[in-house]
Amino acid sequence: MTEVISTELQQQLDKRYGAGAPIADGVGNETLEVLLRHRTTRRFLPGTVSDTELRLIIAAAQSASTSANFQFTSVVVVDDPALRNRLAELAGGQQLVRDAAVFLVWVADWSRNIAIATEHGHSIEATAYLDSAVSSIVDVTLSAQNAAVAAESLGYGITFVGALRNNIDAVIAELRLPQWTFPVYGMAIGVPDPADPADIKPRYGQSVVVHRNTYSPPAAADVQDYLDRINAYYREQELPADWAKNRLAGRISTKESLHGRQHIRRTFGNQGFELR
Ligand SMILES: Cc1cc2nc3c(=O)[nH]c(=O)nc-3n(C[C@H](O)[C@H](O)[C@H](O)COP(=O)(O)O)c2cc1C
Repeated sequence: MTEVISTELQQQLDKRYGAGAPIADGVGNETLEVLLRHRTTRRFLPGTVSDTELRLIIAAAQSASTSANFQFTSVVVVDDPALRNRLAELAGGQQLVRDAAVFLVWVADWSRNIAIATEHGHSIEATAYLDSAVSSIVDVTLSAQNAAVAAESLGYGITFVGALRNNIDAVIAELRLPQWTFPVYGMAIGVPDPADPADIKPRYGQSVVVHRNTYSPPAAADVQDYLDRINAYYREQELPADWAKNRLAGRISTKESLHGRQHIRRTFGNQGFELR
């Protein structure tokens, strides 16, 4: 019988995947541990992120790959408490927006590159197409995730705050975002409260998400395995356990469950993106 040495990485894999977890088999390093340890932090203790740490977090963000080196990411650091409070309300009343040491708004930003092109007398026909929005949002997301990992590697916790898009026009007005920009989400960064019971959250098994050469639909039993594990996770957290009903259907069954986000196409248009 092969004895599996219990490393932190293996424990993280077990929490992520349950009985069918991949075996780390001696492979591992600090980077993988930081990545696999991720859990969203929704309860913060008082505390600060130093200016140096924030600059390094942003440097990590700017170090991500970027489409055509266009560097579409802008980030607004919100440290005015009154503004934080208003953003918290606009994001569905999320207290974590107020409590976090740092609150960032990640912005997909074509404005600099369009200004350079037009100042140099070039047309910008291609920016009218949907791919301009897609490519800038992809860029922002790579940057933001790098920032998240950097912050977590320093011992902080993070929450992405997509709910900022519930009231996107008000967020644009509050932050005075110009044409050719679009706020994608916020990010709270701060000192995690160790009393928070949230833990590493299960994900679909790799047999569900990995396809070899061509796509094959997942086996029903493998999907059910995930549902069983995620429901067990929520039961442990003493939260409503029916993921398909409470978490999935609750978010996709009606347009009203988008809480205002059903209108963001109009906002893209107002910001200059034709999405042709
Ligand atoms: C783009 C994006 C937006 C999110 N928005 C919110 C949010 O507004 N509020 C919140 O509490 N969590 C938010 N989350 C966190 C997700 O709910 C969380 O990542 C998911 O449930 C998985 O849990 P984990 O990160 O702990 O593994 C968001 C995550 C992403 C990627």
